Amino acid sequence: MSKVDVLLGLQWGDEGKGKIVDVLAPKYDVVARFQGGPNAGHTLEFDGIKHVLHQIPSGIFREKTKNIIGNGVVLDPVIFRAEIDKLAKFNLDIKKNLFISKKATLILPTHRLLDAAYEKAKGENKIGSTLKGIGPTYQDKIGRQGLRVGDILSDNFKDRLKKLTDIHFKILKDHQVDFNWNELEAQFLDAVKFLREFKLIESEYFLNQELKAGSSILAEGAQGALLDIDFGSYPFVTSSNTVTAGACTGLGIAPRHIGEVYGIFKAYSTRVGSGPFPTELEDENGQLMRKEGNEFGSTTGRPRRCGWIDIPSLKYSIMINGVTQLLMMKADVLSIFPTIKVCTNYQLGNGSVTDTVPYEIVNEKISPIYKELKGWNEPLNGNSKESLPSELNDYIKFLENELKVPITLVSTGPDRTQTIHRSLQIA
Ligand code: GDP
Ligand code: IMO
Ligand code: MG
Repeated sequence: MSKVDVLLGLQWGDEGKGKIVDVLAPKYDVVARFQGGPNAGHTLEFDGIKHVLHQIPSGIFREKTKNIIGNGVVLDPVIFRAEIDKLAKFNLDIKKNLFISKKATLILPTHRLLDAAYEKAKGENKIGSTLKGIGPTYQDKIGRQGLRVGDILSDNFKDRLKKLTDIHFKILKDHQVDFNWNELEAQFLDAVKFLREFKLIESEYFLNQELKAGSSILAEGAQGALLDIDFGSYPFVTSSNTVTAGACTGLGIAPRHIGEVYGIFKAYSTRVGSGPFPTELEDENGQLMRKEGNEFGSTTGRPRRCGWIDIPSLKYSIMINGVTQLLMMKADVLSIFPTIKVCTNYQLGNGSVTDTVPYEIVNEKISPIYKELKGWNEPLNGNSKESLPSELNDYIKFLENELKVPITLVSTGPDRTQTIHRSLQIA
């Protein structure tokens, strides 16, 4: 029996998952998204093309790869249709290569309105959600009243839609939200009709049969471990399990079938939306990082908050995910800095020093303790591991020594080709 390798973000998202899934996809028969929804923005660059995917897995540009949207995903049919339209110019055989779980939960237009209403009600304490309806949709799933993709095939789908939207209307009325339901419903039903044309499957059977047949599977995470609903900086998190365990529940894969766990991280840190960020740089260096790394949200266009790398939080993410290989992204962005700082420990409000993530991450005063390393301060032009400057190799070794997991891939630019394999293992 083959294995399911998992690729997921170890920080607050946007680590470069889309790029690496696209790079690795030719080595896999199947790529499967297991959680999240259109809050994700996964960027792929190759042959002069730059493309952002939201709900469709990042293996879609590879002709031989089957792409699965798993049961753990929340799917917005309207955004799905727009995504498919945007892909039309690439002449891909999407109807052949894309499979959608009947058990994925549907995002309704009212979920998006609720998301905005809840954020508004939170005022200054807002999560900074992407306003794609993620939280309210997972709420309905867990509340056992959600609608699923498979429901669109049933004769009474419209009745079920009415039942759920009636509940939403009451809440929206309380929040004094105005909207034109006729318009939204017509657009939604049109998109649902479009969705019916795709392969709607029982993805847990599909994937387990693939495993039995010896196919290799790559599970593609969205967001990052520090946004996980259980382990992230609650309440400033997303509403799904972004960690490795989420691949099991979000795809119907038993834990014993998990193989390699690729933990992907930027050579520094970014976060978009509210919530704690111990190494955030609110000075000129933060602005330089944002400019050099083009750190603006792929889904919302919001500027990303930037800061130095954070070892305590990476250690935490590695622990809860069982990471077997680390992939370091955007090393090129640090080329502008003569000195690079690494946060090795946190000093808490009472003066104690720790390399663990405190429970009170939101209210605790956390001051990062830094170690300074010499930067390489030169562009990264080569594409072999021998071409890496010695200071970058020192940075990599320092991180490996702290994190106790090998860094098997280094990314030096957004393009597919700007990828240096150090000792990447595929299960
Ligand atoms: P994802 O959500 O994890 O897939 O990441 P995003 O696509 O939201 O954000 C990553 C951004 O960094 C995208 O604009 C990528 O094109 C870009 N990117 C990926 N790897 C590299 C890299 O090694 N260097 C640089 N400069 N940009 C990169
Ligand atoms: P990818 O897959 C970065 C953040 C939002 C907000 C919080 C909750 O591209 O890495 P939500 O809309 O999920 O309710 O928002 O999570 N967030 C992301 N940040 N990358 C993402 O996805 C994100 N998806 C959600 O900014 O702070
Ligand atoms: Mg992203």
